[in-house]
Amino acid sequence: MDVNPARIVFNKMHTLEDVDKEKLPQHVAIIMDGNGRWAKQRGKIRMFGHENGVESVNQTVESCAKLQIPFLTLYAFSTENWNRPKTEIDTLMKLLVNALKRELKTLNKHNIRLRAIGKIETLPSKVYKELTEVMSKTENNSGMTLTLALSYGSREEIKTAVQQIATKVKNNIISPENIDETVINTHLYAHFLPDVDLLIRTSGECRISNFLLWQIAYAELYFIDVFWPDFRENHLVEAILSYQNRERRFGKTSEQLN
Ligand code: FPP
Repeated sequence: MDVNPARIVFNKMHTLEDVDKEKLPQHVAIIMDGNGRWAKQRGKIRMFGHENGVESVNQTVESCAKLQIPFLTLYAFSTENWNRPKTEIDTLMKLLVNALKRELKTLNKHNIRLRAIGKIETLPSKVYKELTEVMSKTENNSGMTLTLALSYGSREEIKTAVQQIATKVKNNIISPENIDETVINTHLYAHFLPDVDLLIRTSGECRISNFLLWQIAYAELYFIDVFWPDFRENHLVEAILSYQNRERRFGKTSEQLN
């Protein structure tokens, strides 16, 4: 029998009721992949996939909020995505602005706080303005924190932190022997986020693609062979059930945990 919980085969449609609320992942991060291939399968242009991906974003955010998962982080646009054709970038940015405008009410209804990680100042001014507005209009919400990784690259995040720390060392604000994991963490874009518990990637690709490298040190990884526009609540639940079936040892032995 295959006992790898990462490969449990589910043969029924799961719902939120199936999740053990006592063992929820505190931080779920998702690499939303496969929009382009989903569109291609249907003989459509890539943007059709991105447009349909927005519905998966909406449903996933709502499901996570209902489950009371404290932190959800979505990889929406990487530093490498700037290399895509300009028309695709422009349309993605438009989708983002529209989604932000449209979803403010829903975020407030579900008590969700919106935050962002990445070089957000490099985003087009319209996106930056809308994003910062929605972040400020939701900052007092105390439910789930929804973080969008935008113009985000993990190596860039770490490089920036190293530069900031080096400057502090140079100016005698901090001494090298006092640099520990907490100091490094406080200089990352994602300093307000706990470590990732569950990382999901859709589309069947089994890569991390420069996402939250520091924060996934002990994350459980879940790769699902479904394109992002097809990702629905039952897939999210299956990922969480897989997570809940795993033994997280953090370097210890099973016996020590017991
Ligand atoms: C990956 O699919 C997806 C993206 C690069 C963009 C994700 C954006 C959205 C889902 C829409 C807007 C987001 C929000 C938060 C409202 P891909 O284009 O790499 O697909 P492929 O690998 O099949 O080409």
